[in-house]
Amino acid sequence: MAIEYTLAMVKPDAVSKGSTWHIIQDIASSGLKPVAVRMTRLSKEQAKTFYAVHAGKKFFEGLTDFMSSGPIVALVLEGESAIPKYRELMGSTDSKKAAPGTLRQKFGTDVSQNAVHGSDSPENVRREAGFFFSGTELAVLGISIDAIGATVPPAAPSAPAAPAATPANPVKR
Ligand code: CMP
Repeated sequence: MAIEYTLAMVKPDAVSKGSTWHIIQDIASSGLKPVAVRMTRLSKEQAKTFYAVHAGKKFFEGLTDFMSSGPIVALVLEGESAIPKYRELMGSTDSKKAAPGTLRQKFGTDVSQNAVHGSDSPENVRREAGFFFSGTELAVLGISIDAIGATVPPAAPSAPAAPAATPANPVKR
């Protein structure tokens, strides 16, 4: 069995409805373990940086307005096949089309207010986790920065603390 990490986010719509802890409970029930948690609020610029891959799309302004409209909760999740497993738990991007029992069906409204985000690849886990958590913070929590975005054997020893690569516009800490 190999474990991996993924980056999850509870979006402003779900935080404002008080759904955060229900979402975390569903995550834990799925077998994924939250190993780092941060509640913060993105500025418009930070939201643009986080979602830079969508720059130029017609929904980009609305997406970044929404993502900077209120507090979010960022989590690093640990578990076997964490990236695909969490994406399955989230359900389809559009809450209206998401399967019953998925997070987006239960807690979201539509394609823009869809309650949760999850990384879609090991490269994006590394980039998105580095956006919210420094390498030192993760190391204190027992997470090796080298293991973020990689599949590692569970028994692998922790690497010494190493500072995360500085994102272009990280959350202030
Ligand atoms: P997320 O998984 O956070 O990744 C990018 C986000 O863009 C996505 O969830 C949606 O909330 C949003 N998004 C994707 N497609 C559309 C769309 N057609 N209209 C509005 N928002 C969208």
